[in-house]
Amino acid sequence: MSRVPSLEDLGDVSGKRVLVRTDFNVPMEGPDDARTITDDFRIRAALPTIEYLTSRGAHVVCASHLGRPKGSPNAKYSMAPVRARLAELAPGVELLENLRFNPGEEGNDPLFVNQLIQGIDMYVDDAFGAAHRSHASIVGPSLTLPSAAGRLLQREVDVLGDLREKPKRPFVAVLGGAKVSDKIGVIEALQQRVDAFIIGGGMCFTFLAAQGYPVGNSICERDQIDICKQLLSGPVPIHLPEDIIGLDAQGVYQTFGVRLPDGAKGLDIGPGSAAAFTDIIMDARSVFWNGPMGMFEDPRFASGTKTVAQAVADTKAFTVVGGGDSAAALAQFKLDDDVDHVSTGGGASLEFLELGDLPGLAALRGAPNAR
Ligand code: 3PG
Repeated sequence: MSRVPSLEDLGDVSGKRVLVRTDFNVPMEGPDDARTITDDFRIRAALPTIEYLTSRGAHVVCASHLGRPKGSPNAKYSMAPVRARLAELAPGVELLENLRFNPGEEGNDPLFVNQLIQGIDMYVDDAFGAAHRSHASIVGPSLTLPSAAGRLLQREVDVLGDLREKPKRPFVAVLGGAKVSDKIGVIEALQQRVDAFIIGGGMCFTFLAAQGYPVGNSICERDQIDICKQLLSGPVPIHLPEDIIGLDAQGVYQTFGVRLPDGAKGLDIGPGSAAAFTDIIMDARSVFWNGPMGMFEDPRFASGTKTVAQAVADTKAFTVVGGGDSAAALAQFKLDDDVDHVSTGGGASLEFLELGDLPGLAALRGAPNAR
């Protein structure tokens, strides 16, 4: 396999126009025409690459998607707030309008690729969070332009690659979030690599149902129960909650055991589960965490996620938090400085752990300067 070229492999960048694919898909709030950024982590994460290029005399043109506008312009997904923040952090750097306003982006249309690279001399991919998408701006420019991985993409791949290939043991994967169907592939792949799974969040109810427990009105993907049964009888222990916090049929806050009565809805793991999960995390030497343990945005259902986040912050293990909601939870609890690596990619980090490669990396390996 050829190597993914690095920024140094671009040689002299002075006077060159460099297209930098970033993942500036940042969380926002507020009315559609006046949105504000609630966390600029992904913008700050691209600065080392931007600074490498600008300090050597390159003119940087950044390009990113934002949300899922489905191929047409939409004020809600305008890049204007991101452009304003980028102008503060990296003055003089251009930022194109949302790539997904053009259907050619997700359709990987060569005409859109040509439009993107018009007047561009070099391409840098620093969009780890989008590197699992075979979209025009990810896989197109490196077909013809000298290309490189940016610092963020490189670091993500180095950290996740080491975790995948040579983790310190015991290696524990802590998985949460709503949908078990999104995680089946990674659980199957990680069975070969981890020593234990901890499963919380909405996805735990499909596993509890697979063990024969009633789950009331909790999220449960019935069509995934059989595969959960198979995973439960697999070689690697899967630790599930032993108590659940939620609302009963009358909407009253309750702590339940693992049997949820009719009409009850589980929305967080209970204190007994959080304590048991903490013990396992404290004894681990590598931890990968993706997905909250409950609906942490609501303070009534945040304690499971907070306890697990605290354990991930406190353990002596090497800790990697995989993007999205778990990174947001860490930030909410002000623990983001206490883990070894917070990945900027949710889906991308899972797909990389599962497959060991991503379309964005394969594209860079095929660039003219890498062949
Ligand atoms: C993310 O937020 O995970 C990335 O920006 C990818 O976004 P997508 O899932 O809309 O492709």
